[in-house]
Amino acid sequence: MKVVYLGDIMGRSGRNVVLERLPEIKERLKPDFIVVNGENAAAGFGITGKIANELFENGVDVISTGNHVWDQKETKTYINTEKRMIRPINYPEGTPGKGSVIVEDNRGRKMLVVNAMGRVFMDPLDDPFKAVDQELKKYPLGSAVKFVLVDMHAEATSEKMAMGQYLDGRASLVVGTHSHIPTADAQIFDGGTAYQTDAGMCGDYDSVIGMDKVEPINRFTKKMRADRYSPALGEATLCGVYVETDDKTGHATRIDPIRLGGRLKETFPEN
Ligand code: FE2
Repeated sequence: MKVVYLGDIMGRSGRNVVLERLPEIKERLKPDFIVVNGENAAAGFGITGKIANELFENGVDVISTGNHVWDQKETKTYINTEKRMIRPINYPEGTPGKGSVIVEDNRGRKMLVVNAMGRVFMDPLDDPFKAVDQELKKYPLGSAVKFVLVDMHAEATSEKMAMGQYLDGRASLVVGTHSHIPTADAQIFDGGTAYQTDAGMCGDYDSVIGMDKVEPINRFTKKMRADRYSPALGEATLCGVYVETDDKTGHATRIDPIRLGGRLKETFPEN
């Protein structure tokens, strides 16, 4: 199976680069599924139903989220009507929406996507390791589902890497999000799980992790707020990963980073 995963879509410039480049990605890679993290798509804070629908209409199969999932009030109702948008699985019981979804292609092959959130330097949620573990026990890779994708939305690189190693052999891809900077450690672990600590954002990198740089610098240097955060609106770079798996095992045979447009050096999987 061939899967494209795109990291946190940041504001309008992030949305633009994704919508502009999706046709080319579909043409060149012919992915079976496309998954994106959309939790910063609405001016950096959450995602609206309109934005989510536009992504789905343009070929996105699943939208994962993270700590900003509830920033737009409408999301708590939208997420109950659109199962292809998921929120971290380790939120407390009773939280709207679901932490995972299974989607199926026209050949009947199923992909499980699980969204989890880290706890280091973040909100004290339930244990993400236990929550993902329980979910993967229900859907064994290679039998119930052909592809398991885990989006580990976390601040600490250690927590993301620990999740990747913990799930080695049981997931096709474990990819980190939230820190908005692509890491250079794309690899396939010994058990067959493809991994990258952070997919990087789809956003303007002339910024502080996607936000216009003036206010973040102000807060670091003066320790007081002068303004609200707003997304940087320059040309964005699309960032993500491309993974191929063996359908018999669900294990990865290839992972390549994707970077297109904007300020970062481009890289694209060659055949
Ligand atoms: Fe986040």
